[in-house]
Amino acid sequence: MEEEKTGISQEEYDNLIKPYEEALTIIQIRLDSLNAEYRSRSREYPIHNIQQRIKSKPSIMKKLEKKNLQVSATVARDELTDIAGIRVICYFEDDIYSVVSAIRKQTGILVIRERDYVQNPKENGYKSYHIVVGVPVYTLEETQYYPVEVQIRTISMDFWASMEHRICYKNGKNQEVSDEKRAILKGFAEELRKIEVSMYKQT
Ligand code: GTP
Ligand code: MG
Repeated sequence: MEEEKTGISQEEYDNLIKPYEEALTIIQIRLDSLNAEYRSRSREYPIHNIQQRIKSKPSIMKKLEKKNLQVSATVARDELTDIAGIRVICYFEDDIYSVVSAIRKQTGILVIRERDYVQNPKENGYKSYHIVVGVPVYTLEETQYYPVEVQIRTISMDFWASMEHRICYKNGKNQEVSDEKRAILKGFAEELRKIEVSMYKQT
């Protein structure tokens, strides 16, 4: 029996991520021009800033292992939808939905999956709007769609998620979080939301 080759070499990783980098660039340009358009029309632009990342090789390998899948570049391309990730940080909750609807209107971009953790926050208090889009990447031979995971959240949701991530993944290790800390995190999310809403009323 032929043994399945496992692992991802540096060369395979470099080739794997190329089209995802391209897809990220395309989405970034579209979002930047959207924000510029808002800016030119009024002072109420929705986007505070945009961050993007390509999943590292160790983290791709870890995720495939966790999903009990073969660790290879081909399987990563076929099974993972978060190799390319972009995070759009808005000011207010309504801005999230403006950005989502603008993304939906973009021609040539497919909506693959949506999860609204703003209306339906996770048990721990996590909020964000997740939309996985398919972006066409052109080469001389063909056009292929590559997924980009877009996370859209407000500054306060991002502050909360960053803190929660830092507390729960201290020193890079998965740590059990005490019930007390969990309760603090939930209350903290609610306080941040109140501040955000009161700022919105003043504008
Ligand atoms: P993953 O296997 O983590 O990708 O989860 P999933 O495929 O079920 O998708 P989901 O949309 O739930 O989460 C995707 C991403 O959202 C994660 O990789 C994180 O960046 C972010 N996220 C989801 N839940 C939490 C959370 O509770 N806390 C923080 N800080 N981030 C979260
Ligand atoms: Mg995911």
